[in-house]
Amino acid sequence: MHILVCGGAGYIGSHACVELAARGHQVVIADSFVNSSPRVLQRLQTLVGAPLACHRVDLRDRGAVEGLFTGQRFDAVVHFAALKAVGESCQRPLDYFDNNIAGTIHLLQAMQAHGVHRLVFSSSATVYGDPDAVPVREDAPLRVTNPYGRTKLVMEQLIGDLCASDPGFHAVNLRYFNPVGAHPSGLIGEAPGGVPNNLMPYVCQVAVGQRDRLAVFGGDWPTVDGTGVRDYIHVVDLARAHADALDFLVREGRSANINLGTGRGTSVLELVRAFERASGRMVAYDIVARRAGDVAEVYADPSLAHALLGWHAEHDIDAMCRDAWRWQSNNPRGYEDGAVDADAAGGAPVDAALSR
Ligand code: NAD
Ligand code: WQD
Repeated sequence: MHILVCGGAGYIGSHACVELAARGHQVVIADSFVNSSPRVLQRLQTLVGAPLACHRVDLRDRGAVEGLFTGQRFDAVVHFAALKAVGESCQRPLDYFDNNIAGTIHLLQAMQAHGVHRLVFSSSATVYGDPDAVPVREDAPLRVTNPYGRTKLVMEQLIGDLCASDPGFHAVNLRYFNPVGAHPSGLIGEAPGGVPNNLMPYVCQVAVGQRDRLAVFGGDWPTVDGTGVRDYIHVVDLARAHADALDFLVREGRSANINLGTGRGTSVLELVRAFERASGRMVAYDIVARRAGDVAEVYADPSLAHALLGWHAEHDIDAMCRDAWRWQSNNPRGYEDGAVDADAAGGAPVDAALSR
């Protein structure tokens, strides 16, 4: 299929592009690079064995989004493009509504106008807020606790309304739990700017010597060892699910909300120990006060993903740590390590955006 991947230069999107190309799909990336580097494109070319088309487009620009669909025919869209930092969303809610919700509306408008009727959307376990019970099933109550989460819930609802209004339009909302790890090549991975918000990139930066100590947010949660428990999922397993979701849309022609997790919880201290084993490095930490808005324990019931997509997670926490460490130790400064080779990314038919 000919697939538009919005946000395909980002952490999860770049891994999905590798998987989609490996399955024989033709991939076109659209990204504003608000939270990614054009340098990822040459790494993708190395992994895929051919340049990927990439357009620098901000989904907030309705005309530019429309332009993506003019002159090329897509069979489906995979939509990763969003701002995703919970704390930042509390400080700048309007920017999050504008970027995530308005951008999605423009994308849906263009899809409808051009008869593109298949969508795979990056949703999040954040739509469950603080769940009443674990493991979390897709029919658990939806309740969000911050503006970022609200954008994900609203986007799911907008997509649901569009599907209801147009019997030919089908979407799979993939609710990711905690994506971590990196491609086993060590060529692509998560490259957060500034101080990481999430646990795994913070642990990586402590292990590589960029940060002194990890602050463990709370040692008094009602969990196995008092630290927060989450369902970490390898980004390569996650990427695979997007290709499976596209196959589902083609095969079954219906919509679904699907959890993507391993179904297993891992505490902060369990992750730290797994990372120490994988890296051979000590991860110094202090147990500090709980972080506002955190919850004790969240992990998925991933059985629907298996039933509908034939998907299950294959990588365990040791593999997640091993691949995260390979990426971090090979690229301590993320995509800043390694030159931008315009020729290597050349062949991308349009504005491959290597000037940044
Ligand atoms: P990311 O920031 O690495 O990737 C998002 C990409 O979208 C970036 O390349 C960014 O430049 C681009 N983008 C953002 N706004 C855009 C716009 N208006 N127009 C064009 N491009 C735009 O994030 P990620 O971790 O790869 O997350 C991908 C998706 O998965 C997001 O929608 C996120 O909300 C969702 N998600 C992420 C996590 C996580 O922990 N990483 C968990 C659940 C859901
Ligand atoms: C995991 C655990 C922390 C950092 C967030 C978003 C969610 C989703 C994924 C997009 C928790 C603890 C963390 C640190 C720590 N994003 N921790 N020290 O909070 O489960 O989910 O990212 O949709 O919406 O809320 O992930 O990686 O931040 O935290 O002790 O420096 O690690 O308290 O128990 P979280 P996380």
